[in-house]
Amino acid sequence: MKKIVIHKPGGYERLVIEQHPDLTPADDEVLVDVRAAGINYADCVTRMGLYGSARQYVGYPITPGFEVAGTVRATGKNVTDLAPGTAVFAVTRFNGYATQLAVSRRQVFAVPATLDFPQAAALPTVALTAWYALFELAHPHAGDTLLVHSAAGGVGSMLVQMGRLAGCRVIGVVGASHKVDAVTALGADAVIDKSVQDLWSEAQRLAPGGFQVVLDANGVATLGAGYRHLAPTGKLVVYGFHSMLHTRRGVPARLRLAWDWLRTPRFSPFDLTTHNRSVHGFNLSYLFEHGTMLQQGMRQTLAWLAAGTLHPPAVTPYPFAAVAEAHRALESGQTTGKLVLIMD
Ligand SMILES: NC(=O)c1ccc[n+]([C@@H]2O[C@H](COP(=O)([O-])OP(=O)(O)OC[C@H]3O[C@@H](n4cnc5c(N)ncnc54)[C@H](OP(=O)(O)O)[C@@H]3O)[C@@H](O)[C@H]2O)c1
Repeated sequence: MKKIVIHKPGGYERLVIEQHPDLTPADDEVLVDVRAAGINYADCVTRMGLYGSARQYVGYPITPGFEVAGTVRATGKNVTDLAPGTAVFAVTRFNGYATQLAVSRRQVFAVPATLDFPQAAALPTVALTAWYALFELAHPHAGDTLLVHSAAGGVGSMLVQMGRLAGCRVIGVVGASHKVDAVTALGADAVIDKSVQDLWSEAQRLAPGGFQVVLDANGVATLGAGYRHLAPTGKLVVYGFHSMLHTRRGVPARLRLAWDWLRTPRFSPFDLTTHNRSVHGFNLSYLFEHGTMLQQGMRQTLAWLAAGTLHPPAVTPYPFAAVAEAHRALESGQTTGKLVLIMD
């Protein structure tokens, strides 16, 4: 098998393709011949050495990757319901950037007939992230107004669609004009283009009473203002910090990071109480033990896909060997939808 290994955190040159012995599944595992692997911003943060769960669960060397699609090659002795050759997709805590993956049966799902391998590999992380943020944390009501930052991206494009499925009015925010049409096509009721519009005066104009939910993976750039633009009973859901990751050739600028960390708002319990606002945060990579809940999110996602009410993310494919190029593109902030590695 081949896999991409990061021996030491750093820039794009740290993504090295290596040959390794084929894997054997443990008793409860499925061995997947991987055809496509989803790329997430967290993989870039893992490469930079700043992803906590990468250090906690694996350390370096590490093979990044949270999701794959492919065919069943073999199964462990306790797995009796998946024949070799079955098309599957899986979520995994690391090791997805590889031509083979051995993964617990409970993290494996059949690929719906309407999806190809790249679309199936692109789906689970962004769908589960959006589902968890909206339906386990925010619980929006029909008619609520939602603000979705980075609305054209992987997670953002799922948040826009799921927000609409919940009957909400969805305002998407993008950082570049070429993304506006994509967010409108996803069903957003309005799009704020930060590159040509003032984000918060436009947000105020579109939601004078404030937002019931703000979904933010920017970090310091927008957290404080997002909180101030919540309506009474509003919820700020924090799930990433990408605006804080200034890099040079893929290496984080640690001084700027430290400065942003210091400037990141801390929320006062007195203020939360007085204003009836709340702040939520989560990171799915620490929730793998909550398999039943995540399976529920995946079942709901698959039901929406089957009904044709949810569309898989738009995919930009990259050859396995072009992984560095893919990371560079994702970190440029200019991509829309999902980037996916395609195995040779
Ligand atoms: N907590 C969790 O469990 C969880 C799970 C999955 C993802 N996430 C987080 O969700 C966010 C989105 O992830 P994704 O994989 O779907 O990525 P993505 O949204 O497809 O791409 C990142 C987007 O963030 C914006 N951005 C702002 N500052 C940036 C910077 N310095 N570098 C790169 N992009 C920047 C850009 O969009 P605009 O300029 O249009 O805003 C860019 O397109 C990330 O922060 C990721 O860590 C969290």
